[in-house]
Amino acid sequence: MTLRAACLGFLAVAWVAAPARADDRDVLDYRRHLMITLNEQSAALGMILSGTVAGDAAAHLETIALTASYAAKAFEPHVEGGEARPEIWKKWPDFAKRMNDFARKTAAAAKTAREKGAASVNVLDALACKACHDLYRDETKR
Ligand code: HEC
Repeated sequence: MTLRAACLGFLAVAWVAAPARADDRDVLDYRRHLMITLNEQSAALGMILSGTVAGDAAAHLETIALTASYAAKAFEPHVEGGEARPEIWKKWPDFAKRMNDFARKTAAAAKTAREKGAASVNVLDALACKACHDLYRDETKR
């Protein structure tokens, strides 16, 4: 079987198996997948910036920015659970703004890295993970 056929087969199975609407468990799983993506991409970026491996820092920043750009949407359904604090929905405009700012800043950092090199990027400023987690994530919950 060619790779393309294999991929199409996988997608077909996923579509057939998918329920018509996402239930709450799916909403929680989806959010978690996005956050774990951010985590893995940040770890990979860190390895490149510290010189442990050679790689394209801009590409990882672009991936982080893209993931962040749809992460706010993943929290739109008011489904409490996982490590999400209820404050997300009580202070929705602030939460959404933080996520959108995060997407914007990482996209700008990716552009700078692409044009001027990774050394010109203030990564700590762009990766505002902790500021949001301190307010909206409860790590004791899982
Ligand atoms: C605007 C807010 C916000 C930003 C920015 C943010 N996160 Fe999160 N993060 C959350 C929330 C809320 C949760 C809890 C989600 C849940 O459990 O449903 C979470 C959960 C996580 C988790 C736990 C996933 C799991 O195993 O359940 C990881 C890991 C994580 N974030 C990594 C990151 C990294 C790395 C960054 C930055 C590159 C980041 N996050 C940026 C809000 C944010």
